[in-house]
Amino acid sequence: MWAELLPIGRDAAIGGYRRFSWTPPELECRAWFRDQARRRGLRLEADRNGNLFAWWDAGSGPAVLTGSHLDSVPGGGAFDGPLGVVSALAAIDRLRAEGWTPRRPIGVAVFAEEEGARFGVACLGSRLLTGAIDPARARSLRDGDGRTFGEVIAEHGLDPEAIGPEEDLLGRIGCFVELHIEQGRALHAPVGVASAIIPHGRWRLDFTGRGDHAGTTRLADRRDPMLPFARAVLAARDGAAAHGGVATVGKTAVVPGGVNAIPSRVTAWLDARGPDEEAVRRIVADTLQAARRAGADHGVSVELTEESFTAVVDFDRALRDRLARIVGGPPAADAGTPAPRGAAGGGAGDRPGPHAPDAGTAPILPTGAGHDAGVLAARVPSAMLFVRNPTGVSHAPAEHAEPDDCLAGVAALTAVLKDLAGEE
Ligand code: GLV
Ligand code: MN
Ligand code: MN
Repeated sequence: MWAELLPIGRDAAIGGYRRFSWTPPELECRAWFRDQARRRGLRLEADRNGNLFAWWDAGSGPAVLTGSHLDSVPGGGAFDGPLGVVSALAAIDRLRAEGWTPRRPIGVAVFAEEEGARFGVACLGSRLLTGAIDPARARSLRDGDGRTFGEVIAEHGLDPEAIGPEEDLLGRIGCFVELHIEQGRALHAPVGVASAIIPHGRWRLDFTGRGDHAGTTRLADRRDPMLPFARAVLAARDGAAAHGGVATVGKTAVVPGGVNAIPSRVTAWLDARGPDEEAVRRIVADTLQAARRAGADHGVSVELTEESFTAVVDFDRALRDRLARIVGGPPAADAGTPAPRGAAGGGAGDRPGPHAPDAGTAPILPTGAGHDAGVLAARVPSAMLFVRNPTGVSHAPAEHAEPDDCLAGVAALTAVLKDLAGEE
């Protein structure tokens, strides 16, 4: 499976992958998934929101859903998303090779636009499915070329007027277990189980000044939006440090973008996360205050727009503990160091870090990364398995997991599916 997936969507310029939803590489990944389902005799279902499901129709009752996503951030790693899809298919292969049949249906999901790299809102497919975003708002989200989500999905056979919650589909799902590469630096065993996702969100800052000539405009005459923008970036970092969270400005747009032109407008996207909602709100408020002050000094207006916010997710405790017991194995000696405030786990802050597991249970740890499982958790019991990432690097080409750890992930997911779908 990896041999087929790895060449798709490689970004030659910056390394890693660029698989934005409904662009050719992501469509190729979807075609790959459909083909994998077909080869295994799994029934394909495409929902109204662009999500795909491959069903092993067996037994009866609420299904056990697994899977993840195939889209990527710009310059993303190979594992973020695809590891969960590949592992799910590999787990099904193992169960079948054992001659085992489930008592409940098992599904493999591929959720659309998980990264929000094209239309700006992460987990868009699962948010639509579960009713966590207004369909009218989703339809009007625009990509970098100004094309709306509605226009783009219409070109790919979806009805933009029909997007939104799918109660029938949700009603058929008993639980969701997403396997994912760990993205922080806190998992020191091959496989862990998620306890929580810290609150996080995205805000757009628009700095509007006046375009002018770089050589002839005296400093005193300028209204340069780059200056309050620069102040805002530093304020976000200071705010994150002060409130125990993390803040990132990873995307900007400068208009007109000429070396010898004072910009007329700078747009910047702030990603802020923290141990609780108040910390995140304070980081954003500090950033805005500093931006507005600097804006006033430089004749630049500053507007802030919240593009998304996700409150803390505490995964279903019973399911999480059940997974930790199933994954089991002797506890890793070094898995019990609590995360320092704002450090391990990517800004996990005060939430408990990975705790020393009881004998025979896997490490349980929070994460600073968002996931479809966090969105599904509002509607169905959900849980996550994490596969060790030796460096912790993610959303970057160097993201890596060792083959043995990936195989341990498949073994863990196989055991979990067997337990959950083996139940009447
Ligand atoms: C998704 O990977 C996110 O945490 O931004
Ligand atoms: Mn990601
Ligand atoms: Mn992911």
